Amino acid sequence: HKQEVVTIDGPSGVGKSTISRRIASSLSFTYLDTGAMYRAVGLKLKNDNIDLGDEGAVRESLMNVSLQLLPANQGSEDVGVLLDGDDVSQEIRSPEMAMVASAVSAIPAVRQKLTVMQQEIGKKGRIVAEGRDIGTVVFPNAAWKFYLDAAPEIRMQRRADQLRLQGKQVDEEKLLAMIVKRDHDDQNRTIAPLCKAEDAHTIDTGVLTIDGVVEAMLREISRHS
Ligand code: C5P
Repeated sequence: HKQEVVTIDGPSGVGKSTISRRIASSLSFTYLDTGAMYRAVGLKLKNDNIDLGDEGAVRESLMNVSLQLLPANQGSEDVGVLLDGDDVSQEIRSPEMAMVASAVSAIPAVRQKLTVMQQEIGKKGRIVAEGRDIGTVVFPNAAWKFYLDAAPEIRMQRRADQLRLQGKQVDEEKLLAMIVKRDHDDQNRTIAPLCKAEDAHTIDTGVLTIDGVVEAMLREISRHS
């Protein structure tokens, strides 16, 4: 018996959050942004000055951590996060925090902690969960699995547009290098690397509009319901 969960995995900047939010709203499911959890934990370990090589220290710092996901605010695309009660929604969204999240996401103690939290959230089903290892590790028994992909240049261009909309300066060459490095690290780590689940449906978001992607996914979901 399959779990009533939609999993959406793929590299950074592929459109996962926008698409996940749209799918969740169409199905009246809850949207779970697991990347936001890795970002918040990255911030926590950074603020606590934890030596990332010291697995015991990492485990201890995360022992009683509190993460609360908030729905996206008006005017913001992203879900918010309360980290130990503090609103870190803005702080976790910088390209630098993305790199920190990627670094801490390779630590076994971090993955164990967050995987258990995510499985707990998804226990009752009716969620759309987005990340890197959702169809492979977190919800291997999900009823609907998708893997989104697009060329790095296209993903970089979209991120650059987003950042500019927020009034930020963008160095495109540097942004592309960060994206390529993060994908490479995410795909090559030992535990739960980014990869397509065998039973996931792949969609190239570089050649379709967001509407086109969402329609294709909803069609696929209703075909297997
Ligand atoms: O999706 P987002 O860019 O917010 O993810 C930030 C980082 O968190 C990713 O680059 C990845 O290293 C890590 N992550 C992960 N597993 C997930 C979600 C995110 O390792 N399920």
